[in-house]
Amino acid sequence: MNKTAALTLLLACMATALPGTLAAQMANPLRGQAAIDQTNRVHDFKPMMKEQPPLERAYVQQPPVIPHQIDGYIINANSNKCLTCHSWENYRSAKATKISLTHFRDRDGKELSNVSASRYFCNQCHVPQVDAQPLVNNGFTPVDALNKN
Ligand code: HEC
Ligand code: HEC
Repeated sequence: MNKTAALTLLLACMATALPGTLAAQMANPLRGQAAIDQTNRVHDFKPMMKEQPPLERAYVQQPPVIPHQIDGYIINANSNKCLTCHSWENYRSAKATKISLTHFRDRDGKELSNVSASRYFCNQCHVPQVDAQPLVNNGFTPVDALNKN
């Protein structure tokens, strides 16, 4: 085999092997091999639950889930919509649960006169619910103190 023939063979091998190698290196997406526009169906999202009484907690340290809609409730450096109802100042007139005292403590355990920065973005921990069947069965039972049955 002369030099040119060897080079041609090498290039031919690379051309066939390369796409396979690239495919093997590509991430395996969670949606499977379906094209994005086949899975991106916004109307499949479940509607948020409407206003309702507080939902039972599953364990004592659980951040209670939000029993009302929060669309458009903005939390940023200038304002926190949640606190307009849940702060100690406003909870009575809003008939809302007052924010937990634990939220006035910084990460070193120091008590503050206002909500700690680590608790400012409420929906880092508190989330609203949708009325949906659990995706995975769960046999978890609450501690006796919360088990009302
Ligand atoms: C317009 C007033 C209002 C705003 C704004 C508001 N809430 Fe509420 N929230 C309420 C009321 C009223 C309740 C129900 C209290 C009851 O029925 O005992 C409640 C209940 C809750 C509960 C359940 C408490 C429990 O003990 O189970 C959580 C958690 C909560 N809200 C979080 C939030 C978060 C987070 C935001 C901001 C994204 C927010 N709320 C904004 C009025 C408000
Ligand atoms: C880092 C997580 C975290 C963040 C952020 C957070 N919370 Fe909580 N929240 C909790 C946990 C955990 C509990 C339950 C245990 C406790 O009281 O600390 C709770 C309890 C509550 C309760 C129930 C209090 C009671 O007396 O039953 C309210 C109301 C509440 N939070 C509101 C808020 C609001 C409003 C914000 C934003 C300003 C917020 N939380 C931010 C974790 C968080």
